[in-house]
Amino acid sequence: MDVEERRAEFLARLDAGAKVEADDWMPPDYRAELVRLISLHAVSEIMGTLPEKEWVPRAPTLKRKLAIMAKVQDEAGHGQLLLRVVEDLMRPWGRTREDLFQDLFSGRQKYHNVFHMPTPTWADAGLIAWLVDGAAIITQGMLLAGSYAPYTRALRRIVEEEAFHIQHGESICMALAEGTPAQRAMFQDALNRWWPALLMFFGPPEGHPLSSHQAPNLRFRIRFKSNEELRQRFLTKYVPRIRALGFRIPDPTLTQDPQTGWWTYQQPDWQLWYAVIHNRGPKSMERLRLRRLTYEEGAWVRRAFFEPVASAP
Ligand SMILES: [Fe+2]
Ligand SMILES: [Fe+2]
Repeated sequence: MDVEERRAEFLARLDAGAKVEADDWMPPDYRAELVRLISLHAVSEIMGTLPEKEWVPRAPTLKRKLAIMAKVQDEAGHGQLLLRVVEDLMRPWGRTREDLFQDLFSGRQKYHNVFHMPTPTWADAGLIAWLVDGAAIITQGMLLAGSYAPYTRALRRIVEEEAFHIQHGESICMALAEGTPAQRAMFQDALNRWWPALLMFFGPPEGHPLSSHQAPNLRFRIRFKSNEELRQRFLTKYVPRIRALGFRIPDPTLTQDPQTGWWTYQQPDWQLWYAVIHNRGPKSMERLRLRRLTYEEGAWVRRAFFEPVASAP
């Protein structure tokens, strides 16, 4: 059987609902798409700890401090789970997680647009946990049914924890909504700044010149919905909730078709999204510098684990 026949048989098995394990044969482009997707996810979980970690020492109460600290630890754990999944996939290429981090530092490996944003107020910390994690769970919930079993097993645990993060974030945002005029203004200001980044979270719509990888991932049954379908689901879920708290969505054109439920909205600046994910966002370089410093400071731990101990004389 030649490679093309093997590939056709592989795709037919996927269509029949088969799941793929790490040691199974897979077409090179299937492996490449998985590595691209899961590397982005893993590295984004790790980079995603940085904007919120800024608020661990400044959380307004002990209870909030414990909650945000636990969330930051969870996100680092998600990164670890996913790095193991991607390392198994990269093994035939001779690549390791160290290579992935070097790619991150050199700008070859991207991380998610939302984590390039500044978090100047406590409302930003609440908004990330409520709405960024809310957007993430919409994407990850869809990926749970994917064809690559090791990724879906990791996602099951991640999604359970994300559900707690959203409740923690919603609780912060509700407290601000019920608070003083200054607290309400703080949340509205954060929402105004974050709205375009939240829309960008799902990536450009199909057919947009900057949109890529949706079609192969659909074909490989790694994903089941387009970026736009996920964005629409986010709007349907969160626009009413944000408005119920008395806040204003910063888009005067935002409307929902009463028949189809489809939202019309002001398109975010996709050129800006492209610049941000290529490390030209407001906090891109600062966060990369911090990540590199932490990586270098942790080198002794990796040495202690992986280098053979010199035998005593
Ligand atoms: Fe996470
Ligand atoms: Fe999370």
